Amino acid sequence: PLDAVEAGVRVTEADETIGTVGYGGRPNADGVVELDSAIMRGDTLDCGAVAALRDVLHPVSVARMVMEHTPHVLLVGDGARQFAVGRGVPTQDMLTPAARAAWERWREEQEAPRNTDADAAWSGGDRGGRAPVEEDHDTIGMVVLEGGRFATAVTTSGWAYKLPGRVGDSPIVGAGGYCDDEAGACVASGDGEEMIRTCASASVVEALRRGAHPQEAVEEVVRRIDRKGGARKPSVGLLAVDPAGRVGAAAVRAAFSYAITDDAAGPRVVDVERLA
Ligand code: GLY
Repeated sequence: PLDAVEAGVRVTEADETIGTVGYGGRPNADGVVELDSAIMRGDTLDCGAVAALRDVLHPVSVARMVMEHTPHVLLVGDGARQFAVGRGVPTQDMLTPAARAAWERWREEQEAPRNTDADAAWSGGDRGGRAPVEEDHDTIGMVVLEGGRFATAVTTSGWAYKLPGRVGDSPIVGAGGYCDDEAGACVASGDGEEMIRTCASASVVEALRRGAHPQEAVEEVVRRIDRKGGARKPSVGLLAVDPAGRVGAAAVRAAFSYAITDDAAGPRVVDVERLA
């Protein structure tokens, strides 16, 4: 399962047409791509993660190296980059021409005069303003269940034009992803701050542990995010699988779909109904 989730999300990390993950992902407010990723195995709860990692094509593989070659769980920023280089990981510029052009357009918009209080509230000064783009935080999260064993992986370039150093939910184990062979697995996409506030993926897995159906578990947590998020109008999607292979998915505001394959029905894509 661990090999499968790593191989699976590496495909998306390398796809430059996807503006929210890996190569081709939107940069931070300074025009630098900073990547977050985590990987976890459900038998031992071993996990590894990297945050605000620059210049590396496959952050999920560095996350796995953190898990397998250090006593730690999470490395960030320069330390994560140095660790990757020390393990022989090649570096490259992660900002594609398309992502650079989009960032330059965003920067020009930021320099235009602002007229409303809402604009001012989101601007965070002259750097790190809320990006007016739909595809803002679309993380890829993957769950594999094979012979009773779970693994999860999540990887993202995070909030487009975020403040440099901002870390989202994806590398925070229990927020952006979690799995335990005894209970099930969950991965998250959307506004990472909301997943961190609610420990979203761990909350879903704990509901599974208490016997909830995955659909019931994700709806409970998505509704909590919506209720607590209030005026922030959170936009999130959660996907859960239990040890029996039952699947649940729920979203609020986010246009969210997932791809699934299993022995019974083969590969298909499912659009998730929004709860609000
Ligand atoms: N869910 C990805 C992020 O907010 O960074």
